[in-house]
Amino acid sequence: MTDSTTAAPAPRTDPVAADGSGAAGSGRDSLTVTDNRTGQTYELEITDGTIRAADLKQISVGGQGLATYDPGFVNTASTRSAVTYIDGDAGILEYRGYPIEQLAEHSTFLEVAYLLLNGELPTQPELDAFTHDVTIHTFLHENVRQLMQGFRYDAHPMGMLMSSVSALSTFYPDANQISDPENRKRQITRLIAKMPTLGAWAFRHNQGKPYVYPDNRLSYVENFLAMLFKMSEPTYEADPRLVKALDVLLILHADHEQNCSTNAVRSVGSSQVDPYSAIAAGIGALYGPLHGGANESVLKMLRRIGTVDNIPGFIEGVKAGKEKLMGFGHRVYKNFDPRATIIKKACDDVFEVTGVNPLLEIAQQLEKIALEDEYFVKRKLYPNVDFYSGLIYEALQFPPEMFTVLFAIGRTPGWLAQWSELVQDKEQKIARPKQIYTGYRTRDFVPMTER
Ligand code: CMC
Repeated sequence: MTDSTTAAPAPRTDPVAADGSGAAGSGRDSLTVTDNRTGQTYELEITDGTIRAADLKQISVGGQGLATYDPGFVNTASTRSAVTYIDGDAGILEYRGYPIEQLAEHSTFLEVAYLLLNGELPTQPELDAFTHDVTIHTFLHENVRQLMQGFRYDAHPMGMLMSSVSALSTFYPDANQISDPENRKRQITRLIAKMPTLGAWAFRHNQGKPYVYPDNRLSYVENFLAMLFKMSEPTYEADPRLVKALDVLLILHADHEQNCSTNAVRSVGSSQVDPYSAIAAGIGALYGPLHGGANESVLKMLRRIGTVDNIPGFIEGVKAGKEKLMGFGHRVYKNFDPRATIIKKACDDVFEVTGVNPLLEIAQQLEKIALEDEYFVKRKLYPNVDFYSGLIYEALQFPPEMFTVLFAIGRTPGWLAQWSELVQDKEQKIARPKQIYTGYRTRDFVPMTER
């Protein structure tokens, strides 16, 4: 794993000079701010298109330094990162500089995982070694099996995944040695290797079927499919077109810079806890319907709409604010989601094998109508990665509850690359946002009889 860390530029916050240097048009990379409460002027350094929030503290009245208020971090950078680049307006997504379209076409999930974690594409011997390491770590301790068997028959697989990943920290207590690069590498390999086993066992648990042990003769995706669907046949043989489609889906989900779940991983990881606990936090964040849980919600929504005739009524409800069109909209992409474009193509490949999903017609009509409707156009709402992925997952015989598990397996290398970067970033501190307190100030306790 790379150990490179970007050196932090020294903050500089000189008050503006009396001669006016630093004023408009001086060409300096700085921002001049006048506090109208005091008439005092400050000059704040601009680096990489940002000012440092801590530099605002010096702007103070009565000892109360200025801060920013940014619920949902809509305009706040929390880190410097070299993992993933997104240009939301241009629909660009790159892992370590490689366009997602090229990776989806030419690479494999494990190669992309190596790239995210190490910063460079592997040579053949490097990829072989990485693949071997991942393959020999796919088995779980037998007690994990018992742990999973303790869940109710209808437990949501994301809940099972989150709990079992968290439990892994108790099986590998040395994982808290996070400043040891070799130790980090070992835990990273384990997590990437064991996620499909945990995901598949959660699925089998819901189905009341025996858990299937990994078959290390198979590739990463083939092995996952075997653990999901194998019954009495000696070897499970998956259609190579479906294996390729699932591999592409995992690549498309592998990282997405500072999204909700990655932020959760980084935030929890900033306390210097072990990676299993940090990744469990990411799985929890991903579970929500506004994030990775959206693909499950899309399928449920399409089923509820039922027929093309019901689409206009449904769209009117969305425009009236009764509900959201799930699978549409994105905090970053305001033009198109490049992952959605690739998934649409993968849909065709999968449906060639499985037959067309009857919900596809509803999805296509919904997209057509939404893309022409003023409400969606004005708000720049386009299909995101989750709009079509659910249709593929369903064609591959996954129930909707499993969709987000697939997302989590794909996102694991990204979470770990970001966690690794965090751990090595000397500028990072424990995450601890400020608040604007809106409650009561000091008041005397009221005895029960007087309330
Ligand atoms: N359907 C209807 N209206 C929407 C939708 C939608 N899917 N998404 C946003 N809007 C409206 C929203 O009501 C608001 O309208 P107004 O300006 O009148 O108040 C406007 O568009 C801006 O939306 P926002 O909620 O301020 O945007 P955001 O950046 O905070 O939220 C989002 C982004 C993805 C959470 C949101 O678009 C959404 O809830 N989409 C549906 C859930 C979904 O598909 N999530 C998967 C995201 S992609 C996978 C991932 O990376 O997690």
